[in-house]
Amino acid sequence: ASTAMLIRIPAVLEPEALARARQLLEGAPWEPGELTAGTQAALVKNNLQLPATCAQTLALQALVLGALEKHPLFFSATLPKKVFPPMFNRYEGAHNTYGDHVDKAVRYAPGTGVRVRTDVSCTLFLAEPDSYDGGELVIADTFGEQRVKLAAGDAVVYPGTSVHRVEPVTRGARLASFFWIESMVRSDEQRRLLHDMDRALMRLRARDGESDEAVALTGTYHNLLRLWADT
Ligand code: NI
Repeated sequence: ASTAMLIRIPAVLEPEALARARQLLEGAPWEPGELTAGTQAALVKNNLQLPATCAQTLALQALVLGALEKHPLFFSATLPKKVFPPMFNRYEGAHNTYGDHVDKAVRYAPGTGVRVRTDVSCTLFLAEPDSYDGGELVIADTFGEQRVKLAAGDAVVYPGTSVHRVEPVTRGARLASFFWIESMVRSDEQRRLLHDMDRALMRLRARDGESDEAVALTGTYHNLLRLWADT
């Protein structure tokens, strides 16, 4: 099993949903991103963001959350207890970068009183990678730096504990959604073991169909989840 801390979630948004998202993003009232950053992050944050509660944001949030709910890999990788209402950002022109920072441990969803512990960070890419230069999400982990730039509609999840940045965009515009997940399984290590086991089980079923072994291992998966999950 891979020990990498990043997990790519392909095709969170299908082409139709992606086109709708882009349409909403085009006419949206972008504002400077440092408004929502903590003291340290504000010093290095230079991008644009959508206001937390404007009409476009609400429509986009429904689109993204609806897609996440239907995505088995997202569920398996993050084991969500709470998902922070997705936010949206844009890196372009004079507002084109976000230097090294860590995300706040607890986020308060505006106007809802909902608190989310940021166990897992997620970035959902909304612009095609060949439409802009730069803009890689660079995540530091125990093996060094990983540089992530995915197809529009794909997402990456990574531990909320990591130091990360977005490289300067030197051509075009990088559009993305970003949000956090409070997981039923707080430990990155335990969550990773469950995800690896779940994926191996999916492959086993795809190859052999149902078998006594697959049923027994599925039981073990759920018994581990029961042991570790906090709902
Ligand atoms: Ni961040």
